Amino acid sequence: MNVHWMFASDIDNTLTGDRKALDELRTRIDAERESGNMFLALSTGRRLEQVMEGFQEEGIPRGDAVISQVGTEIYLPPFREGQEPLDVWNDMLLQDYSREEAEQFLEGVEGVEMQPEKFNTPLKVSCYLDSAENPEEAVQEIRRRVQKAGGLYQVIWSSGRDLDIIPAAAGKGKAIRFLINFLELDPEYIVVAGDSGNDRSMFDEFERGIVVGNAKSELLKMREEKPVSTYYFAEKSYAAGVREGLSYFGLIT
Ligand code: GLC
Ligand code: MG
Repeated sequence: MNVHWMFASDIDNTLTGDRKALDELRTRIDAERESGNMFLALSTGRRLEQVMEGFQEEGIPRGDAVISQVGTEIYLPPFREGQEPLDVWNDMLLQDYSREEAEQFLEGVEGVEMQPEKFNTPLKVSCYLDSAENPEEAVQEIRRRVQKAGGLYQVIWSSGRDLDIIPAAAGKGKAIRFLINFLELDPEYIVVAGDSGNDRSMFDEFERGIVVGNAKSELLKMREEKPVSTYYFAEKSYAAGVREGLSYFGLIT
């Protein structure tokens, strides 16, 4: 498929947060998509059902693909309830992931509270750590355990609250890369956008990225880590920040 550019965006607190700004951004995005210029990938921690609710209720633009559950599931349109995720991606990830083993990394760590069952899937073990006495220390302990076990798992820490253990081969960035190859997309530009820790892998995978003004410290610190980066740190928040970034990259006016 020949598209001029691909936009891979997180949903929560990147597209959402300012409905008026999102409505304006969506008009631009829809126009780009309708003229065949843009491929939109929504790349989120949400489940597919929550993304579909967002199309109806929150003004989220319809994606050309949905990467959900923190890059462990990929869905292609037409989106429908009960849809199975793309099996090639799933089967590949399942080869090297054991939920039981991943759960063991959390055992006995102070303050771990498992997320509801629907957010815990065969490819994603997720808990909250915000009631831990020292969440950062708990994360470090979990990271140490995961590292010791070898290279098959990765820990994603977001917003001072959410911790996910997913396959090392998964994550938003790698899922987008897979999708580009799978659909044989050949975009001239790829731009990603995000606000929190689970977006980090998109910035590691792709050169051009928009960090919205309301981003969490775990993304803002990329400024110091990569001083000559090609990322754009927007002044504005939420969808207005996204729009600011897209016009910085010359993709919309
Ligand atoms: C979403 C998911 C949750 C995950 C979080 C951070 O909120 O529902 O399971 O922990 O994103 O990645
Ligand atoms: Mg977010």
